[in-house]
Amino acid sequence: MIDRETVQRILDAADIVEVVSDYVTLKRSGASYIGLCPFHNERTPSFSVSRAKGLCKCFSCGKGGSPVNFLMELEQISYTEALKRLAKKYNIEVKERELTDAERQQASERESLFAVNDFALNYFEHNLTDTDDGRDIGLTYFRERGINDWAIKRFRLGYSLPKGDALYRTATAKGFNEKYLFDTGLCAKTEEGRVYDRFRGRVIYPIFTTSGRVVAFGGRILQAKKEGVGKYVNSPESAIYHKSVEVYGLYQARQAIAKKDRCIMVEGYMDVISMHQSGIENVVASSGTSLTEGQIHKIKLITRNLTVIYDSDPAGIKASLRGINLLLAAGMNVKVVLLPEGDDPDSFAQHHSSTEVEEYIERNSQDFIAFKTDILLKGVVNDPIARAGVITDVIESIALIPDPITRNVYIQECAMRLGMSEKLIVQQCDKLITARRDKEAMKKAKEDAARTLQGVDKQETGTSTSTQAPPTKPEETEQDDSLYLAKYERAVLRYALKYGAVEIGDEAYDQEGNAMSITVIDYILGDLEGDGLTITTPLYARAINMASQLLRDEWPSARTRADERIDKERQQMWEQGVAAIRDSGCSVADIDRREKELRARCDEMVRGARAVVAQHFIEKQMASCDDDEIRRLTTDLVSERYQLSKIHTKHAHIETEEERLYSLVERAVYELKDAVLECQQRSIRRKIKAVCSQPNCDPSQVLALMQENKRLTEIKAEFAKFLGERIVAPRR
Ligand code: CTP
Ligand code: MN
Repeated sequence: MIDRETVQRILDAADIVEVVSDYVTLKRSGASYIGLCPFHNERTPSFSVSRAKGLCKCFSCGKGGSPVNFLMELEQISYTEALKRLAKKYNIEVKERELTDAERQQASERESLFAVNDFALNYFEHNLTDTDDGRDIGLTYFRERGINDWAIKRFRLGYSLPKGDALYRTATAKGFNEKYLFDTGLCAKTEEGRVYDRFRGRVIYPIFTTSGRVVAFGGRILQAKKEGVGKYVNSPESAIYHKSVEVYGLYQARQAIAKKDRCIMVEGYMDVISMHQSGIENVVASSGTSLTEGQIHKIKLITRNLTVIYDSDPAGIKASLRGINLLLAAGMNVKVVLLPEGDDPDSFAQHHSSTEVEEYIERNSQDFIAFKTDILLKGVVNDPIARAGVITDVIESIALIPDPITRNVYIQECAMRLGMSEKLIVQQCDKLITARRDKEAMKKAKEDAARTLQGVDKQETGTSTSTQAPPTKPEETEQDDSLYLAKYERAVLRYALKYGAVEIGDEAYDQEGNAMSITVIDYILGDLEGDGLTITTPLYARAINMASQLLRDEWPSARTRADERIDKERQQMWEQGVAAIRDSGCSVADIDRREKELRARCDEMVRGARAVVAQHFIEKQMASCDDDEIRRLTTDLVSERYQLSKIHTKHAHIETEEERLYSLVERAVYELKDAVLECQQRSIRRKIKAVCSQPNCDPSQVLALMQENKRLTEIKAEFAKFLGERIVAPRR
């Protein structure tokens, strides 16, 4: 944990142009800089860097962000790690925040586990190369399998001595607490209380997190199959190791994956190592078990494109089809490569040059439709029922794809391949999607009902409540409503993040006509609160709360710091200017006039500099915060262009967003309130429908609802008048 003050100093110091320049050659282009995007291969530069905004962004692939985010994505490192790199670059001493007792205990527990693992990592490595046993047995084994020194170093391969408790003795002698040796699973105790090393007599494959910390080990026996002994042993789950979220090789592959915008997935440790050794470094392994959502998530942070390589053993392939469905549902673009019979990626990479391997992958990549149909249709071509089953199976996969556009591409492909009408497949898909939504909605309704019943039970035990009509699918339309609202909330949020600390006071007046000074954020929150409203989309609510907190807690001191800096600049500008005037040797009257001009210029500089600081404060903070979602959202919103409406562009002088900020914010808030009213009305209409459809419908209830509806219509008419007036109103 780095303390807040230090984080602030790092963020203040970090200059996006300097940070990006460490990786990319930048050229000036107008107010910003431009260069070749480091996130993907390109020939014409589309990576733009804006010093004023403190942001960079690729117009082609969309990656970029604040200095912190840039480093995190490019180097695939954690938030804290990125901050530390920046601190180093700018010579800022990093003070770690004082932890609370509970945090310290927990952190030290985890740190102790890491420390033991780290010790074991070095110990195993040392065994492999610096002991006779290690060299004779372990190293010889790796040599026989064609693994070279480079690969051994890169994957930090090791050897655990055959002696039963060598690691235990060495580690405890070094002062490591045995508790952590047991907790990490490096050592274990028999029922009789004898201690032994889990990996004794095995070669070691350490498992790293994406940021390079060792969380677990895999150990392989050296002999061929031995009765009753597993070929591989792995570390058990621990406070630092969750098997289902670690991806073997991701640490070593992360940069290559980002660069190629594709991840290759194989099965085992040796497959990964041999592929890397042959020069193909964007390769990771699922470690034998089927893929999990957690593993997919880790990869998805780097790329959405995945190629899975399978050996062509039929049993394995069939089992893998489920994994493909999981990938599709996660929104990954999946390709599949089958290896020649008898090969696995390890043997294939060992026996071919890297160009050959790359060409093979290139030429044999199939999309999952082709793959699935080929596999499943084998042998059933002439059996219509089995064929129908295959088609259903493939369509089920397609229906899992979340993005409608991608889904459609696959529908076309499937229609072509199976000689079916596209329309039919679309229908089938829609049916499946609706069924899935219904199932989810039903589940939610059941949960809600259970919760309500629980509440009722608490109040009046024993009363039956089963006469209620079953819920008539309101979920979907309510979901529509929240999507509708989200659009307007986003527009408001954009102003809050982009101009949060800017004061729009000189255009707002209180009841006595005095100019009021209020920041954009306070205006927005105050106005909504006045009507009992809040932002409802969870992420947006989180973002605006964070912005408001920053404004309250951080902005005052940040402004003071900025003012001090600006004052110094002013002083300098003034002194230089005065010296220049004196040196020019003009008349006293001239000196007077020119000094006046200089003073005006200085004041103008101060005003401008202060405005820039206020304008970028919130966005800079939030585009650099440790919350992944908020960081991304802020970067997106800030780089979104303001859409001038047609009416505005008619004016000869097109005013900038900054110039008309007050009326724009005011308008965005009104539009949001209008949308809220619209949703309330929709909900009333749904209620009316529900009440009317009941057999013994109560007319007075319907009447009350209709009256409420009318009231809302009236308020909306007021809004419409206001919005209509404001739409053309140019700035006074
Ligand atoms: N695996 C495992 N535990 C096991 C068996 C397998 O963790 N008991 C994982 C390992 O990551 C292994 C992968 O599943 O690399 C694939 O298993 P397998 O095909 O049996 O091993 P290979 O990788 O082919 O290993 P080798 O070539 O050394 O025999
Ligand atoms: Mn193998």
